[in-house]
Amino acid sequence: MATGQLFSKTTQALFYNYKQLPIQRMLDFDFLCRRETPSIAGIINPGSEGFQKLFFGQEEIAIPVHLGIEAACAAHPTADVFINFASFRSAAASSMAALKQPTIRVVVIIAEGVPESDTKQLVAYAKANNKVVIGPATVGGIQAGAFKIGDTAGTIDNIIHCKLYRPGSVGFVSKSGGMSSELYNTIARVTDGIYEGIAIGGDVFPGSTLSDHVLRFNNIPQVKMVVVLGELGGRDEYSLVEALQQGKINKPVVAWVSGTCARLFKSEVQFGHAGAKSGGEMESAQAKNQALRDAGAVVPTSYEAFEGAIKETFEKLVEAGKITPVKEVVPPQIPEDLNTAIKSGKVRAPTHIITTICDERGEEPCYAGVPIFSLVEQGLGVGDVISLLWFKRSLPRYCSRFIEICIMLCADHGPCVSGAHNTIVTSRAGKDVVSCLVSGLLTIGPRFGGAIDDAARYFKDAYDRGLTPYEFVEGMKKKGIRVAGIGHRYQNLK
Ligand SMILES: CC(C)(COP(=O)(O)OP(=O)(O)OC[C@H]1O[C@@H](n2cnc3c(N)ncnc32)[C@H](O)[C@@H]1OP(=O)(O)O)[C@@H](O)C(=O)NCCC(=O)NCCS
Repeated sequence: MATGQLFSKTTQALFYNYKQLPIQRMLDFDFLCRRETPSIAGIINPGSEGFQKLFFGQEEIAIPVHLGIEAACAAHPTADVFINFASFRSAAASSMAALKQPTIRVVVIIAEGVPESDTKQLVAYAKANNKVVIGPATVGGIQAGAFKIGDTAGTIDNIIHCKLYRPGSVGFVSKSGGMSSELYNTIARVTDGIYEGIAIGGDVFPGSTLSDHVLRFNNIPQVKMVVVLGELGGRDEYSLVEALQQGKINKPVVAWVSGTCARLFKSEVQFGHAGAKSGGEMESAQAKNQALRDAGAVVPTSYEAFEGAIKETFEKLVEAGKITPVKEVVPPQIPEDLNTAIKSGKVRAPTHIITTICDERGEEPCYAGVPIFSLVEQGLGVGDVISLLWFKRSLPRYCSRFIEICIMLCADHGPCVSGAHNTIVTSRAGKDVVSCLVSGLLTIGPRFGGAIDDAARYFKDAYDRGLTPYEFVEGMKKKGIRVAGIGHRYQNLK
């Protein structure tokens, strides 16, 4: 486990399993913090390769997408955080593969339901190799003004509201991801804000513990006080009690262990998290709160009083000259996505294309107002489709039949017969008759109508050499060359 700061303003991560929303939120946070480089160097998405287009502020950037972990690490050797959005089925295997990469230092596991025996193996490997695991079942964490993991702290509005775009003086660690969003708000209200916040996740065996992070915060000079939100169940808070008793933490700790209401139930209750179940008196919220209080932490009498306790501790530090509250900065404005702005009625956008024939705005394209499927249901054909597309109405059956006969008769000319087609197109473009003819004539080539050129060449050659027609035809026959331009089947005399 690292003993100091985990992240900085230049930290870059690899993101496993493409999830557009959390990735875009990380990039929006980067922009808000005026980071120079995006916090995501690459994405790993088994089964697809290439790049994904995302926004970095107003600019569109292409983030490389790799098939596998090894290839991604090789391509981005400076990315040392691995954010794992794999499902619970594959999270352990991909996390272990990431931990084994020499470039990866921190692995964050989002999935809930990772088997405990797998997590234990990950934790053992990480400890032995001096790496950090955050999670499983975590939303992640944030270093204010520097680096954010996935969905931590919610929407951009919430992040701005909680002033997470610039560092404050409080280190915060929580078991719960949802409650950490609540506490970011509380801490922003009564202090100069968060320096770093981590949610360790609600599993019974988290990759890193509350006390691991509190001890780390103790070594970060910018962190002046620590806020801890524990939970009933497990004994992690007692490691913190021990560290306090042993004098290993010399910064004020304000703590609350939630789940005091468990006593109101007659039988044991499993709360939302896998680990939130008290297996005995020692694991109850009351016992842990008391132990923390006895060890010197500031522990309020209820959750409602938590905010007041944080405020009071912060103000004491300011009075004692230990904190000079950070100066407020104005974050840049994140450009709103066009679709979101349109939906909220803030902007309107002109259409780029208007088509008077095919309407593709709905679930099913319509030709002149007639849904395609109804054409199929009515047993109508190509002639009817053309009458809708070209004449914008359903023509009588004899007309659509006529169109179909024209198509049937012309069909054999295939796609290379473009002379007449070009003449028609040029004429539809409103050009004069000479231009129309020229456009058609210039298309005559070896694949259509070009025989006439060859015929002219041979006839001129024969004339220049003074051959009679008989000598010319006979000579060609002997050489095995067919005279071009002669012998079209339609012109054969029967
Ligand atoms: C963990 C989490 C991000 C996983 O995302 P997900 O959308 O459930 O999973 P995906 O759809 O991406 O993947 C599911 C499976 O489908 C597979 N899959 C997805 N698209 C596929 C495709 N087109 N073809 C084949 N397989 C596909 C994936 O490979 C994956 O396989 P795996 O389970 O063997 O790994 C998501 O479940 C989650 O956010 N859970 C909540 C976690 C949480 O609450 N954490 C605590 C916060 S406080």
